[in-house]
Amino acid sequence: MNLKDLYIDFFVSKGHKQIPSAPVVPENDPSVLFNTAGMQPLIPYLMGRPHPYGTRLVDYQKCIRTSDLERVGDKSHHTFFEMLGNWSLGDYFKKESIGYSFEFLTKILKIPVERLAVTVFNGEDNIPKDEVSASIWKNLGISEDRIAYLGKEDNFWIAGDSGPCGPDTEIFYFRSDDAIPVKFDPNDERWVEIWNNVFMEFYKDNDGKITELPQKNVDTGMGYERVVAVLEGVDDNYLSSVWIDIVKKIEQLSKYTYEENPTSMRIIADHIRTAVFILGDEAGIKPSNTDQGYILRRLIRRAIRHAKKLEIDENSNWEVIIANMIIDKYAKYYHELTKNKEVILEGLTNEKNKFNRTLAKGLKEFEKITSNLTTDTLNKDLAFKLYDTYGFPIELTVELANEKAISVDVEGFNEKFKAHQELSRTASSGKFKGGLAGDSEKEIKYHTATHLLNAALKVVVNKDIHQKGSNITSERMRFDFSCDHKLTDEEKQKTEQLVNKWISEGLDVTVTEMSKEQALKSGAECMFIEKYPDIVTVYSIGDVSKELCGGPHVKNTSELGKFKIVKEEASSAGVRRIKAILE
Ligand code: ALA
Repeated sequence: MNLKDLYIDFFVSKGHKQIPSAPVVPENDPSVLFNTAGMQPLIPYLMGRPHPYGTRLVDYQKCIRTSDLERVGDKSHHTFFEMLGNWSLGDYFKKESIGYSFEFLTKILKIPVERLAVTVFNGEDNIPKDEVSASIWKNLGISEDRIAYLGKEDNFWIAGDSGPCGPDTEIFYFRSDDAIPVKFDPNDERWVEIWNNVFMEFYKDNDGKITELPQKNVDTGMGYERVVAVLEGVDDNYLSSVWIDIVKKIEQLSKYTYEENPTSMRIIADHIRTAVFILGDEAGIKPSNTDQGYILRRLIRRAIRHAKKLEIDENSNWEVIIANMIIDKYAKYYHELTKNKEVILEGLTNEKNKFNRTLAKGLKEFEKITSNLTTDTLNKDLAFKLYDTYGFPIELTVELANEKAISVDVEGFNEKFKAHQELSRTASSGKFKGGLAGDSEKEIKYHTATHLLNAALKVVVNKDIHQKGSNITSERMRFDFSCDHKLTDEEKQKTEQLVNKWISEGLDVTVTEMSKEQALKSGAECMFIEKYPDIVTVYSIGDVSKELCGGPHVKNTSELGKFKIVKEEASSAGVRRIKAILE
């Protein structure tokens, strides 16, 4: 049986409800490009809002982390991964959480206790040493020698800089045929971390101040790829059953074996898989030069470059062959991949063709530039031109330059690049804060305004318009929607007027819970149907808007102020973007 099924079944047997994996692109959270952990879509509930499914939850969540993108190519790094997680929202705490993990590992996965060790929080910054967790572990049969006490660098978990957080206990597995040392040394790489149980009882605000949360939660995360590799006894994730068939297929398509060029094969496998999940996500991301679309483009182009290195025939449909294998492999767990199969395959092939066209021209330009150089450094402007005009990711430029003993002003390029890419600010800092629960009043107002704008566009422009995304800061709102044309001035004006009319009417915003079917039948608007549990919350604004949504919202539209559209532009094919403010 698959580890995912074992995990879900086990926690369901302990009273947990399975919740679906949220989309990889978070809704209404401008501070992060992708979900990076299972807890991320649950932040409002960790902060105290009741979850429609109750207080014990379990899931497998698609996650993407781009901070280590350059490290993909080794045995263990991935950009996309699945995180198995279980949560207590103010329900059970340390004793049950540790007990469940221990039981799952030793009884269900049948891992011998001798192979396990743990770390617990040693206490720091007025937060005491976690004696409770240590004593629970000892009662379960983990000896004192196998418990390491570490500080907040290692055993205090928070996603990014602010949000719900707390001490954690991490579980390690001894992955080696060597004799197992009696004493656990967390720096000994033969011990690999397999599970993290976070006891989320605190909240850290943007100024770094830590306060107690209204409830004590448990948030756990187990990396699927790593645990499968551990269970299968391989120390290279790409040799586990998660990847091996894809690696074999890449070997067939190329002129090399995995032993000869593991790095390029891992990069192709990893990047195409992540591209499949981004393209297959309900958010409708396409390759572009901003935000998630830029990450997607970079992944596909990096995979294409490595396909060239492996001499894979560029006219073969290698990307489709690999993507199809990935879709088949994951379709049982992620139905959106089957539903969006055409979009995924087309997206990959279009980007491949596009890059292949500029790649040849860019290479010619590169030759020209480098043969005219008077120094041995390629300056930032030329590197940026190769990026901007020919679509060369900087790493490709660096690699090509290095072959000619030329260095590249990468720092200068990065400065230029950052100035041009709003996205890299968010992506490279790896920063993220919680969902709307931690948001300001202004952001809550903007959130309600997106519902009004969505409704107004349907009245003024076309009843078939749907939301494709949104992004809110305390300064403005951005709203993406399906639409086949640039809005006329009249359409913009009328939309703005209608929203302001609804604001001036002082419409009540009400929330009700109902089944998903009931909600859809009632005509409620919904962006990502897969994302929602069977019982959903529906927000209504007077009788002008009804949407499935987690909230929060203002109580009455009169709180919003004056609504103003500041910009209307193309976002991607068939998707328009409105930027608006509340004055
Ligand atoms: N949220 C915790 C992690 O990502 C479980 O490690």
